[in-house]
Amino acid sequence: MSSKFSTFICQNCGSETSQYFGRCVNCKKWNTIVEEKKTSKSKTTNINKSKTSKLFNEIEIEKISRFTSGFSEFDRVLGGGIVPGSIVLLGGEPGIGKSTIVLQSAGEISLNEKVLYITAEESLEQVKIRWERLNQNSLDLKIYAETNLSFIIQEIKSVKPSFAIIDSIQAINNDEMESSPGSVSQVRTCSSELQQIAKENNIALLIIGHVTKDGALAGPKTLEHLVDVVLNFEGDNIASHRLLRSVKNRFGSTFEIGIFEMLENGLKEVQNPSSIFTNKENISGVTTTITNQGSRPFAVDIQALVNKTFYNNPRRTTTGVNINRLHQILAVIEKHVGIKLSDYDCYIATGGGFEINDPSSDLGVAISILSSLKNIPPSKNCAFIGELGLSGQVRQASNLRAKIDEAIRLGIKNILIPKTTNEIKNNFRDIIQIKEISDINEAMRYALR
Ligand code: TYD
Ligand code: MG
Repeated sequence: MSSKFSTFICQNCGSETSQYFGRCVNCKKWNTIVEEKKTSKSKTTNINKSKTSKLFNEIEIEKISRFTSGFSEFDRVLGGGIVPGSIVLLGGEPGIGKSTIVLQSAGEISLNEKVLYITAEESLEQVKIRWERLNQNSLDLKIYAETNLSFIIQEIKSVKPSFAIIDSIQAINNDEMESSPGSVSQVRTCSSELQQIAKENNIALLIIGHVTKDGALAGPKTLEHLVDVVLNFEGDNIASHRLLRSVKNRFGSTFEIGIFEMLENGLKEVQNPSSIFTNKENISGVTTTITNQGSRPFAVDIQALVNKTFYNNPRRTTTGVNINRLHQILAVIEKHVGIKLSDYDCYIATGGGFEINDPSSDLGVAISILSSLKNIPPSKNCAFIGELGLSGQVRQASNLRAKIDEAIRLGIKNILIPKTTNEIKNNFRDIIQIKEISDINEAMRYALR
């Protein structure tokens, strides 16, 4: 039994209504509502398979056996490799390199596992040309060029791969539906049908989805609850570095990142990320901090430019640092160091525009600002770690030991940190000079001499 009906779906947030609105009631965006006709099939529910509840100590956990993606950076972001039967959504702007990373990875995986690459955007020849450029040597990777969902499902069922890739979900079409490929309802139904096949056959499925910076293209956002892992591939098309970020992961930590470089013959892992985001120059307005990204700390430069303002409201802009965090740091400096910052414009940028979410970078931001303002370079070969409290005190930083290790690895000689344990101090004695700091004034006196 089937019935046809239409709903109105916001192409930005995916919320559904039964009538047209000029502005989405949920996400408040204008002109994003599109009418989509759906054909719904009444489903028979499976009432034979009822389950009983269990006590925790009766539940046995099978050890997850993962297989490698061929990239250690990719594996780490996934939480240690690909979990059989899991669904991964890889989002990113068009042209960022999603097809490239996945094709390279598929080639590596196919040396040990059965892999099916479904290309809905490019022809077999186009993929082959890319393949040759990537110097891949696997002979066992299967490619299938198709956009029709039912053919794709048939092919998956007959090939029975352990890893399948859909490139991309926006190009897949379920012909039982009248809405066009890429619309929210197409993306949703195609994904949930693919997910069902993957779960039933224990196939690890990687779905590629395009997203633009403002989320203007429909789809991937509305799939996040359906899948086990959501990864974002980021970077700008000009610079060659790409970041793979995990936003959701049922099998590992989020906030992990993997770093790649786009070269002539594909993506290459960057094993020493600190070298990209730091410059080791001793100039006023620039400090180095060690920030946490998932389980891995690495060094990033923080640059500040503080100038007398010509505006009624001083300008404050940031790249890589949250603007509210900057306002807070400026307020702390104003109150506890006693400098009237409302007379100054303040611009902050991190090395390579790297996005910092770790509060322990506050001290680096504050010292950069003071260093630029006073035109005094901070102490040589020094790193700054510590969160700045509202009363000007320097608060504890997470993962401190690993951060100090990373500083040592980079050849940094001095490090300013919050008050710490004797154990940590003894551990690093004679390797790096540790200076414990209790508040912003003490940090400033020490760093800007
Ligand atoms: P692609 O993987 O097609 O992006 P997406 O699937 O996310 O849309 O990447 C396309 C870009 O990558 C394109 O601008 C060319 C560049 N590129 C290289 O620089 N080196 C390479 O080896 C490959 C295959 C692509
Ligand atoms: Mg592509």
